[in-house]
Amino acid sequence: MDKIVVEGGARLVGKIPISGAKNAALPLLAAALLPSGASTFKNVPDLADVKTMSKLLRMLGWTVDADKRSLVIAPPTGKKKPKLEAPYELVKTMRASVLVLGPLVARYGRARVSMPGGCAIGARPIDQHLKGLQAMGAKVTLDHGYVDVEAKRLKGATIVLDMPTVTGCENLIMAAALAKGRTVLENAAREPEVEELAVVLNKMGAKIQGAGTPIITIDGVDELLPIEHAIIPDRIEAGTFAVAAAMTRGDVLLEGARPEHLDAVIAKLRAAGVQVAAEAGGVRVRGGGDLQPVDIVTQPHPGFPTDMQAQFMVMACMAKGQSIIKEMIFENRYMHVPELGRMGADVQISGRTAVVRGNSKLNGASVMATDLRASASLVLAGLVAAGKTEVLRVYHLDRGYESIEKKLRGVGAKIKRAKDA
Ligand code: EPZ
Repeated sequence: MDKIVVEGGARLVGKIPISGAKNAALPLLAAALLPSGASTFKNVPDLADVKTMSKLLRMLGWTVDADKRSLVIAPPTGKKKPKLEAPYELVKTMRASVLVLGPLVARYGRARVSMPGGCAIGARPIDQHLKGLQAMGAKVTLDHGYVDVEAKRLKGATIVLDMPTVTGCENLIMAAALAKGRTVLENAAREPEVEELAVVLNKMGAKIQGAGTPIITIDGVDELLPIEHAIIPDRIEAGTFAVAAAMTRGDVLLEGARPEHLDAVIAKLRAAGVQVAAEAGGVRVRGGGDLQPVDIVTQPHPGFPTDMQAQFMVMACMAKGQSIIKEMIFENRYMHVPELGRMGADVQISGRTAVVRGNSKLNGASVMATDLRASASLVLAGLVAAGKTEVLRVYHLDRGYESIEKKLRGVGAKIKRAKDA
């Protein structure tokens, strides 16, 4: 198993290339199940989760040819029939595997997917995904830990979601794209990755309107055609490096980042006293003065993203005063707190609220992460802690950050990857 070793104190200066968005790539790879020919995606991030989704598509019978950051995904041809089952041993490693449900039912009339168990950050049920498919006429049965979904042909329906679930919307948009008639998704997720999926499906010939707003209308078509598409940049990777620049009083250009995907994050960085400017090549972040405390409440987009909560908590530890953080999306997304406490952070948790005292002097330590963004926050802490920090179980990081140590070293961080005995 690898670990990341960071020597604190370096000021980050220079340019960091932002990779394609993990949370756009995963639904887009699932969407490649829909058209009758080979689709090509460019700017694909080199991540463990993308490799896992590629492995799942191959298990279903599709070919996935990777060439640097491009993927060509082609359906089974000739006598080869698609398999329609996503097995437990794969789904348990990545919940986003559930995204194959909508496309398979829409195109082949059935799918059998292992129920994704909970994960470190919460129970994360898929009841809304299933409720929507049932509303479109699918028969949904739970069978020995698997969900079986069948429908001769899905029918358009009006679906009011209990909450704006991101992958729930993505699954239902893909299902509705080939359904008969009109589907209206109400209380829909507005994340840029949902919009990106609609852009790609419309390029395939789908008829989707309203993506990015709370009401999305999908008029089903009979067939979708293959496309070529370059994936949008990863706003959470960009936000993570923005915090790194802010905390180290650095000056970093986040190459390719889109400011319009980061409004809430940029607003909070500026409130903390960080200079953020849109430039031709991306977003430039300059730290400098003392960091001011800021209060954070995580919300569905365009609110402050839950995937940036752990990173902002580390920045809050360095601020001159107390910050209040409320995690409103996931019920257990404070696993980074005990580890930060071992580095000297002063954070008190009460239910969904974290009170961060600030003015901390962090000290390097060996720390262990339990989920992707918690791991990232520990690397950020190591950048400013006195002495050496070792972040163990780096496989969490590799799920969502492409070569994080190389990108940080490229702007002056004293960081390396090493084998953990
Ligand atoms: C997506 O997860 C992202 N993953 C997550 O990113 C992100 O944190 C999350 O959206 C929220 O923004 C991908 O896009 C692959 P949700 P998703 O369905 O779709 C509840 C990362 O670090 N819910 O929007 O699984 C659920 O329990 C990952 O990159 C139901 O109750 O999140 C949660 O409390 C972590 N029933 C809330 O809704 C459902 O059927 C939001 O979940 C679906 C969701």
